Amino acid sequence: MTDTRENWSSRSGFIIAAVGSAVGLGNIWRFPYVAYENGGGAFLIPYLLALITAGLPLLFLDYAVGHKARNSPPKAYRTLFRGGETLGWWQVCVCIIIGLYYASVLTWAGSYVYFSVGQMWGNDPEGFFFKTYLQTSEATSFDLRFVGHLFWPILGIWALTLIILYGGVKKGVELSNKIFMPLLFVLFTILVIQALRLPGAVQGLNAFFTPNWAAMMDYKVWLAAYGHTFFSLSVGFGIMVTYASYLKPKTNLTGSGLIVGFANASTEILAGIGIFAALGFMAHAAQTNVQDVVSGGIGLAFIAFPKIISSLGAGADLFGILFFASLFVAGISSMVSILEVPIAAMQDKLKWGRRKAVTIVGGGSAVVSIILFSSVNAIKLVDIVDHFINNIGIIGGALLSIIAVAWFKRSALIQLRDHVNAISTVQLGKGWDFTLTVITSLILLVTLTMTVFSLITKGYGDYSASMQWLFGWGCVAFCAVVAVVLSKMKDR
Ligand code: ALA
Repeated sequence: MTDTRENWSSRSGFIIAAVGSAVGLGNIWRFPYVAYENGGGAFLIPYLLALITAGLPLLFLDYAVGHKARNSPPKAYRTLFRGGETLGWWQVCVCIIIGLYYASVLTWAGSYVYFSVGQMWGNDPEGFFFKTYLQTSEATSFDLRFVGHLFWPILGIWALTLIILYGGVKKGVELSNKIFMPLLFVLFTILVIQALRLPGAVQGLNAFFTPNWAAMMDYKVWLAAYGHTFFSLSVGFGIMVTYASYLKPKTNLTGSGLIVGFANASTEILAGIGIFAALGFMAHAAQTNVQDVVSGGIGLAFIAFPKIISSLGAGADLFGILFFASLFVAGISSMVSILEVPIAAMQDKLKWGRRKAVTIVGGGSAVVSIILFSSVNAIKLVDIVDHFINNIGIIGGALLSIIAVAWFKRSALIQLRDHVNAISTVQLGKGWDFTLTVITSLILLVTLTMTVFSLITKGYGDYSASMQWLFGWGCVAFCAVVAVVLSKMKDR
């Protein structure tokens, strides 16, 4: 049988694409606000521990699963254990849901490149973001009123994503990453250096780097750290399984994984440094604490940074353009990777050609995303869906993949380890087995149980129960139902 599977042109092409996937909105938009909400200095240690005890071990597992089977998640997991296909489809569905709101945040980033010219947010970036730009509805219930100026940009984001995906693995995904990643590196480094030169930056860095032991006693900080690590590394929801499936048979998997993990964590910490330096600057100007300068939450990058940009005087336009352009560039390469998962899965299952898979899966997602996120509810939906899908969708999928191979099908875990070790420089030993089997799985089990318990008893944020049911639990139910149905379908 001839091997018709698409592949990367080289190992470095794969590494660039994998870094492009990992480094995204999660690093520049999500990490700083999650860190800010979870006490700044309280967050860094849980984050690093989560990376070492869960992120990296799972990254290696994802690589091993995808590369050994050379298939997207449903078929790859199916070769390992019974029920594996359902798990694979669950991860595929999680990607579909993430893609829907990821496009929305990318839209904001793209629009803010334009708003940076002359700092259109004026003296009140917070009011501008929530009210003038997003026109956020005051209503607590579901409200789909249309916001015209959100529509065209989100349409543009989807068009760009689909054009890249039509290009295929080498000429679309890999090529776009080879352009975007170096660009991002240059833009972002300049920005962080600029932020560090602001007066008060040290105050912000102290808030970011000083461990807050008392706050670390709060289990929520740990939940947030584990929830974030997977999103940020693109593990546990099929991306790395899919990307590894396009590798040539003999590829150094662990070496590549360490490069990707290191590049991702460095960008994340760099983003933390940049944003906290900027927050320090604002705290310094307002004579207050870093924790009190802005309302945190998902608007942080769109509120804190505009404030700093405005205060820069000459060069403010350029600084703003650079910041939001880097956010955009980082995000688009991740967006492509998120959509690649369902596209590859449909190609593998139904033998669809790429064109057909991109049109149906990408086009369908685009329609839903555009309707939901050109509405006055955009930011609320992003917040709710992001919270549920990260903390239940990703963590649940990751946990199941680990439990299945580490607890119930040890022979599969050993086969995967042997597969990796036969072709990689850094060998996976008993330490990897132990971490996955005991540490990662127990931590995730506790994390997931507590999250579900808290969501059931207290709910999330101030959102109405109907919104949480529809868009929080609704997304979880969607993933479960679709996963079961698709796994029952026969392959073509
Ligand atoms: N890993 C991607 C990000 O961090 C999804 O944004």
